Amino acid sequence: MNNYLSNFPLHRPRRLRSSKWIRKLVQETKLLTEDLIFPIFVTYERKSSKIKSMPGICRYNIEEALDLAHKAKELGINAVALFPQVSQDIKDDKGSEAFKKDNIICKLVEKIKKTIPSLGVICDVALDPYTKSGHDGLVENGKVINDKTLDLLCEQALINAQAGCDIVAPSDMMDGRVQKIRNYLDKNNKEETLIMSYAVKYSSSMYGPFREAISASLNLGEDKKKSYQMDYANINEALKEASMDIKEGADILLIKPGIMYLDVLKEIKKKFKYPTFSYQVSGEYSMLKNAILSGTFKEEEVLLEILSCFKRAGADSIITYFALDVANILKKGA
Ligand code: PBG
Repeated sequence: MNNYLSNFPLHRPRRLRSSKWIRKLVQETKLLTEDLIFPIFVTYERKSSKIKSMPGICRYNIEEALDLAHKAKELGINAVALFPQVSQDIKDDKGSEAFKKDNIICKLVEKIKKTIPSLGVICDVALDPYTKSGHDGLVENGKVINDKTLDLLCEQALINAQAGCDIVAPSDMMDGRVQKIRNYLDKNNKEETLIMSYAVKYSSSMYGPFREAISASLNLGEDKKKSYQMDYANINEALKEASMDIKEGADILLIKPGIMYLDVLKEIKKKFKYPTFSYQVSGEYSMLKNAILSGTFKEEEVLLEILSCFKRAGADSIITYFALDVANILKKGA
């Protein structure tokens, strides 16, 4: 004790913060462009259209969506995640369009894999863009029916895999879907297709802008998606969901939403040591983008900080609508 005091203070943590070069040398986590996944909305409409609640993001027509995928690749991004906006007149009760081999997602996957084969392509597996209800599964008597939905999800996953997508990402939160999809893909010679399960997906107000983007929010009912997406108050249940999906054959676990759920991400990464990704969802984008546009935050600073926090918590990769912006910032050598 005396010794320590006589040389007070022996440790001066500020020494390691005194200049940028030393800060960089001791930095514990690095945010890299290669960790980012860029989500792209593609529309059946001929013209791209702005999404009001997501300034700067559009529902792109197929040509522009393809251009964006090229841009992502050029910037060093490794994968894109595709989401469709389906016209109301094509939607029906069981989401039939989701199982058509020439639907807009399959078309876009084929175009991307033909022109940029080294870019990873992720397809969402869930019915919500295609159903009149906007629910991720089949609705009967006001309930989302689990087991009948599974057969449809298997079909959707298979046609996406056959179109050439690298990762199918069940985001529907039905029970048992990872195992069913894995078996179905394998039976149909698609054992190489990866499964990224939205293992832990909370029922969140943060998905509002996404639902506006894909026009799927009108008929969800009072409980919205609470009968299948998780209660935000729970974390033990998150561990259970993750462990089930690992046993069922998931290659990658996705935790969602992002920033408010980093405690969940950290626990899951620590416990299972599995590839674990995070999704900075549409509402998080909207909050930040609006604050950037109003001048409250400086874009470069706030994006690097927030996305670095995902890495610090243990995310291997991050899906973010800011992927191109962040890639540009990192390119400048921030
Ligand atoms: C569809 C799906 C949703 C998101 C990804 N896939 C919305 C939902 O579950 O309602 C949300 C993504 C975002 O908000 O950015 N099952």
